[in-house]
Amino acid sequence: MSSIILLVFVLLLPLASSQTFHWGPCPSPQVQPNFQVEKYLGKWYEIEKLPASFEKGTCIEANYSLRRDGTIRVLNSQFYKEKVSTAEGTAVVRDTRESAKLGVSFSYFTPYAPYWVLTTDYTSLSVVYSCTSFLHLFHIDYAWILSRSPSPSAATVLYAKELLVREGIDISRMKPTVQNC
Ligand SMILES: *[C@@H]1O[C@H](CO)[C@@H](O)[C@H](O)[C@H]1NC(C)=O
Repeated sequence: MSSIILLVFVLLLPLASSQTFHWGPCPSPQVQPNFQVEKYLGKWYEIEKLPASFEKGTCIEANYSLRRDGTIRVLNSQFYKEKVSTAEGTAVVRDTRESAKLGVSFSYFTPYAPYWVLTTDYTSLSVVYSCTSFLHLFHIDYAWILSRSPSPSAATVLYAKELLVREGIDISRMKPTVQNC
């Protein structure tokens, strides 16, 4: 058992520099009550985030739209190495009793990663959290502050950060996303 844990740890170490790693299980933040996905669709700009290896560019945005089969099409785009790159994924509501706890996958072969909407007013701000724990020993998490505007007010961003902190999430590595395109 302990050698398995060590192996998992060694395999994940290279990730730790571009992901956020913590000992212990995931925090369990409150999520948006009565989340209404229809109102959430459309374009969101990424304002700040915890580091993620798959997001190194600038002008990062997401566009959510409904597919005919009821799943949500996720189209992420970023400007990286002088060009726009996009990634298409799928989001699903996994439990209708907690509709703010979505899962997102960017490939047929990868499992759904959590996409939890902690709070949103649908028209300006969304605070998203994703945490995966490994054997309850440690966890890797991501957090995103999204806005309908590429330059939301400082008060809006502060509100989002205070909410994350209140929910027990470490945002010391959180960085603004450049939105100058
Ligand atoms: C978002 O995606 C939908 C569906 O593909 C498209 O109709 C819409 O124009 C896109 N919106 C933006 C703002 O890019």
